[in-house]
Amino acid sequence: MPSFAARYNGITGSAIREIFKIIARPGVISFAGGNPAAEALEEERIADLAREALGSDGKRILQYGGSEGWPPLKEEASRFLAQRGVDAAPDSLLPVSGTTQTIDLVCKALIDPGDTILVENPSFLGAFQTMRLYQARLSPIETDERGAIPESIEEAILKTRPKLVYLIPTFQNPTGVTLSVERRKAIAALAARHDIYILEDDPYRDLRYTGDDLPAIRSFDESGRVLYMSSFSKLISPGLRVGVVAAPPDLLRKMVVGKQSTDLHTDQLSQAIVARYLARGYLPDHLADIRALYGERLNRMLAGLDRMGIEHTTPEGGLFVWCRLPGGRDARAALDLAIRKNVAFVPGTHFYCDGGHEDTLRLNFSNSDPDTIDRGLSALAEVI
Ligand SMILES: Cc1ncc(COP(=O)(O)O)c(C=O)c1O
Repeated sequence: MPSFAARYNGITGSAIREIFKIIARPGVISFAGGNPAAEALEEERIADLAREALGSDGKRILQYGGSEGWPPLKEEASRFLAQRGVDAAPDSLLPVSGTTQTIDLVCKALIDPGDTILVENPSFLGAFQTMRLYQARLSPIETDERGAIPESIEEAILKTRPKLVYLIPTFQNPTGVTLSVERRKAIAALAARHDIYILEDDPYRDLRYTGDDLPAIRSFDESGRVLYMSSFSKLISPGLRVGVVAAPPDLLRKMVVGKQSTDLHTDQLSQAIVARYLARGYLPDHLADIRALYGERLNRMLAGLDRMGIEHTTPEGGLFVWCRLPGGRDARAALDLAIRKNVAFVPGTHFYCDGGHEDTLRLNFSNSDPDTIDRGLSALAEVI
């Protein structure tokens, strides 16, 4: 039998995707995944925008388009980022089929087998899978309650000579922790000092329920080495698959070439819908609605975890709370038992590039209403 490419060795697919099969069963309370709430998905508004877009630009939308992206989306995304302190002209942006594709295109452009990528530990396991498919070596950097520690990054840069540092600075997946401003500045300075790319993955920034917004690492970047990744998945719809990345021109060009052989271009109807959504000014009110919805759910989850005496992070936004089970219990065994009680979550070990930490787990709160959160946590309390 012909063998599969070596790049697939040891890669079995995302643990979350397997858990998705379980949560698709009726009646399962899902604290797994990172899905927006069903109430946050505006199918009628999106249908109207799709109809309008096809009505005025139909022939262009339905035709092949440029890999560089739908121009009106680039204009709107540039304004969207500017309001968030990220200065990126439309030409410096590449619309992508979700941020997942940004990670893929960056790896395609930069990573040779055996190259090192520094990652927070724990970090987003979807990113790990992509990086591993490019046969990158993942090397952990230390983190604490204020996020990635710059001294640990610098030490790792000197030791491993990485191509890339991958960071989720705001309401991190999986921990919910936010990187402090001082560290953001220090990390931007590291990129300049060591001439190294920083991949700033920031899909949760707008999902803040308490506290003040923080400037992006990219806003302190003077070296042009910080790539800023944004996504409309958690803000408008993950199914539309639209994100953008701001990157320096030489790397952006390589990513465009890489995209030509991946999907040629991001779905133009989706790009046109998101462009119109932003141009109409729908986002601020929608964000206010989902912040209220998710903020209440987060508070309910934190209160429940406190009642249970479970050690947890206290995020100011995002979609996840990170927990540690008492007495070093194994979260994978707890998941097996929880599933029998129709509750699912993701064991934390999957988020560590070097495994271990079996007593940790990630809980999502956006996808369950407050009473369901209480019921799910009661079932978990029995399991634990
Ligand atoms: C940190 C992080 N980056 C990227 C993604 C993927 O987002 P997208 O839907 O834009 O591909 C996720 C999704 O959960 C995420 O948590």
